[in-house]
Amino acid sequence: MGALKRIKMEKARYSLNEPYLKGKEKEYVLDVLDSGWLSVKGKHTKIFEEKFAQMVGLKYALALQSGTAALHTTLLSLGIGKNDKVVVPNFTCAGCVTSVIQCGATPVILDVENESFGLNINNVNEFLKKEKPKAIMLVHIYGFPARDTKEIAELCKKENIFLIEDCCEAHGAELGDQRVGKFGDIAVFSVRSEKMIGVGEGGLILTDNKELIDKAFYWATRASPHRGNEHPYWKMYSYSGIGMNYLMPHLLGAVGRAQIENFDEILLRKRMVGEKYQSVFKNIDGQRVQKKIDGSNPSYWLNMVLLEDKSKDEVRKIGEKLIEKGLVIRPPFWPLGNQDVFKKFAFGSQKVGNLLFEKGIILPSSVFLADDGCKGVEEIAEILFDVLKMF
Ligand SMILES: Cc1ncc(COP(=O)(O)O)c(C=O)c1O
Repeated sequence: MGALKRIKMEKARYSLNEPYLKGKEKEYVLDVLDSGWLSVKGKHTKIFEEKFAQMVGLKYALALQSGTAALHTTLLSLGIGKNDKVVVPNFTCAGCVTSVIQCGATPVILDVENESFGLNINNVNEFLKKEKPKAIMLVHIYGFPARDTKEIAELCKKENIFLIEDCCEAHGAELGDQRVGKFGDIAVFSVRSEKMIGVGEGGLILTDNKELIDKAFYWATRASPHRGNEHPYWKMYSYSGIGMNYLMPHLLGAVGRAQIENFDEILLRKRMVGEKYQSVFKNIDGQRVQKKIDGSNPSYWLNMVLLEDKSKDEVRKIGEKLIEKGLVIRPPFWPLGNQDVFKKFAFGSQKVGNLLFEKGIILPSSVFLADDGCKGVEEIAEILFDVLKMF
């Protein structure tokens, strides 16, 4: 693996991001162990769901085993299946596309815009001239509210298209006076370990719609219509669909609860780090960071720098050098419409996604970089600037 050998987290100076386990994690986990209830629907998981819903400003939340599971369950709850199309941006996690395919539906992969790197409404309108999708997945990438969120939400209302907000990377990000997750019919979050709230692997579905959350529960519990105290016990193992076993186990719910209770502190730290990166890369020729659109307050999950005046090969070599120097960096998403396995689902040019992939490097964005007035961010930038002198 040579220069690309991964730096072990424990040796790395600054990680990409890591969970902020400074609250009551141990207390709650021990409480779960003492209770003997390791299974789903535990007390702590329920509180985690309630507090998460409060944080976003929605009524209902259901904690599941991953963000991908949450997307899959969401699509099934919306009744999406064979013959349906779902619009997905090209610059996102593969789970957005695979969850659509798993439902038997067809993804339509559209290019993103070049500011906040969210779905571009012009590309959505182009596709609409041809066909109407049943749903649109709007992703807020790296904690930045997508530029066209409000327009896409209006369009979906007007055209009767479901809007799924993928907030897997954007816990607590705000647009106007609302948190992301409030703009669509249903929202999905990931709480895998490197996310802003990280329990290991996990995800949540949130909505104001009781019927949708009930359907999500149904699909996530093997599609049994007879779960719960209101049904005779002997009906428990009867099914009316092909469902999944996706609910979050109690130990993880306990870790999630402790973190959501500490969320203000986590968000504050992420914002300090993100704002520092924004100021460091302001007005530098040939380099730019993701745009905080007017009226938004990102959560800055990750901070990516685009080295626009470097070639694709140079950017890759710069990345290798940064790894050699001890930084834990990450490449941007490989655009989904540009991968053999998903190519046939691409619609229109995938230009911006390709540009981000070729020019971007994601820099360490650890919540702990907020210590010492974000001096670590300056140090990381210095390392990058030194490396850039070689190219
Ligand atoms: C935008 C986005 N959507 C969906 C997912 C899937 O979430 P998970 O990894 O928890 O399955 C991720 C990745 O974590 C993501 O970044």
